[in-house]
Amino acid sequence: MEPDELSQILRSVITGVGGHLPANVVTNDDLAKIVDTSDEWIVERTGIRKRYKAADDEPVSDLAVAAAEKALTAAGRTAADIDLIIVATTTADLTFPATAAIVQRKLGAPVGVAFDVQAVCSGFVYALSVADGFVARGRSKCALVIGAETMTRLMDWTDRGTCVLFGDGAGAVVLEPMEGQGTTADRGLLGFALRADGTKQDLLYVDGGVSTNGRIGHLRMQGNQVFRHAVVNISEAVRAAAEDAGVEVVSVDWFIPHQANQRILEGVARRLGIDESKVISTVAEHANTSAASIPLALAQGISDGRVKPGQLLLLEAMGGGLTWGACVLRL
Ligand code: ACO
Repeated sequence: MEPDELSQILRSVITGVGGHLPANVVTNDDLAKIVDTSDEWIVERTGIRKRYKAADDEPVSDLAVAAAEKALTAAGRTAADIDLIIVATTTADLTFPATAAIVQRKLGAPVGVAFDVQAVCSGFVYALSVADGFVARGRSKCALVIGAETMTRLMDWTDRGTCVLFGDGAGAVVLEPMEGQGTTADRGLLGFALRADGTKQDLLYVDGGVSTNGRIGHLRMQGNQVFRHAVVNISEAVRAAAEDAGVEVVSVDWFIPHQANQRILEGVARRLGIDESKVISTVAEHANTSAASIPLALAQGISDGRVKPGQLLLLEAMGGGLTWGACVLRL
């Protein structure tokens, strides 16, 4: 086919990425002082060595703003260019307004669209898909998609089965529309598969909320069941996203999964036939930062020089809901 016969389509292209972690580090040994656990157990079962914890006066919007500023700099943009902000978070500053509106104010971005997406650890993949609906239809010229969490605020610090797993942080991407040829060689978001199964709520949830008991609540989890569900179901969504994009799973350059547990990352990669050398893992350093973990891992991969423009990336996540999903994109 001649190039001019190919249909030109708008693609949502990531033009900048940024990550931010709070200053305070909590090691496994620190946690062993408050619950009956050990560095050895945590490393062997999860791969986690440390996590970051936001200060008491550090709301999730501050983490989001710091990540967003780095992403804007990387994209060569300023807050004045932004017309859409989506924040994927489970740990909003306030019940309302949306954290995205608070981020807009703190960044000094002009009046535009700003809202939050709540899909727990899958939030960033969900938010990318929602943003694609604006950017690839010409309804946003410059969008910020942020995953930001203060999961440590939801911990029951007497429950060793959960409090060792989570950390705080934020990652952000700038998305801009670019003309593509409608082929898999195009830069941009190429394919998605999103899933939710509300019947699995009891496996992973927070036992508080505005409309039930009015409390913030604590995270509750049946860890081994979540583990099983993750390894089995994520693979299906990844294959569906790859099919949606028109690529083979094994052809991706980098697999950038939600960073819940090193054993889940490896189990999913093995099931999909992805070589472990292609997996970006930050779980040892960051622990599970929920919706922030994928953009944080992407920022890490870019800053250490592994992930480069033009490469094909596979993102996937699973979280409370249960929700899960995958995205294939060319950077
Ligand atoms: N230190 C020491 N022992 C522990 C700890 C700990 N921190 N936590 C649990 N144990 C004990 C349990 O009490 C249990 O002891 P028992 O046999 O005496 O009863 C034993 O270890 C085994 O417990 P399991 O839960 O079966 O251990 P498992 O190997 O499944 O590992 C883990 C637990 C790490 C939680 C694992 O199941 C997991 O990672 N699951 C997935 C969790 C996850 O990814 N959640 C996030 C999803 S994303 C989101 O939306 C928030």
